[in-house]
Amino acid sequence: MTNAEPESCNVNLYEDLKLSEMTPFAEGDHRLCYQHPRQPELCVKVNREGKDLALWKRAPFYKKLRSVKSFNDNWQEYLSFQQPAVAANTPGIWRHIPRCYGWVKTDMGDGLITDYYVRENHEPAWTLADYLSTQGADKKLSAAIAEFIACLRKTRLITKNLLPHNILVVEDGKDVRLVLIDGFGSLSRLPLYRFKCLAGPYVEKRIKRFFVRINWELSDKAITWEEAQKRNIGDEKDFV
Ligand SMILES: Nc1ncnc2c1ncn2[C@@H]1O[C@H](COP(=O)(O)OP(=O)(O)OP(=O)(O)O)[C@@H](O)[C@H]1O
Ligand SMILES: [Mg+2]
Repeated sequence: MTNAEPESCNVNLYEDLKLSEMTPFAEGDHRLCYQHPRQPELCVKVNREGKDLALWKRAPFYKKLRSVKSFNDNWQEYLSFQQPAVAANTPGIWRHIPRCYGWVKTDMGDGLITDYYVRENHEPAWTLADYLSTQGADKKLSAAIAEFIACLRKTRLITKNLLPHNILVVEDGKDVRLVLIDGFGSLSRLPLYRFKCLAGPYVEKRIKRFFVRINWELSDKAITWEEAQKRNIGDEKDFV
């Protein structure tokens, strides 16, 4: 397996991008994802119009005390990229998360720029969800999972639950590696970023839940994900 880290690139943040006439390469619940029109190695994500306000309106009253911006996924992701685990620039971390280069103005709202991952045929990289449903948990994937969780443990990267559609399986020579592209940040109210002793157990919980999720993705899905979480079946030793 190659240990080289992908290089970062120079990004022009001062140009206005016209995205409205382009087709996004992917759409999530919260954001539209575009390939940068002039720098094909970059991804530009914009929030779905009005999504943050709609989420704010649906929130319980105590959450309405927060600003509408705090419901903006792009903004939350940008803030989460400032966390100590990323700022520390720990060797190896860039094999598993994209670099976040900042904001550009677009005709569809503020665009957050990160690395863009493609397959050999230039199509967007497979997600882990795609990979599990087509190839299953094969040897290549086990090695990639082991490297990924070792990085989470080493860096104590704070993430939400690690969902297979938010993780890419990126070709890496003859091997593959996992890259988290969504779901950065904390689910907890504890000051995880300040105290390593809190971050460690939090990361372990995310890892345990990750294996429960993989186990469920590989099952016939006869039970719901909510039920699978309660049963808590799926362990590191089954996949690594
Ligand atoms: N940097 C990237 N390179 C390649 N593909 C990507 C990249 N970022 C996102 N994708 C693809 O786009 C999809 C949607 O992106 P993303 O998860 O960031 O959107 P979202 O709206 O925040 O998602 P969600 O539905 O989980 O809220 C991903 O599932 C993935 O398939
Ligand atoms: Mg997503």
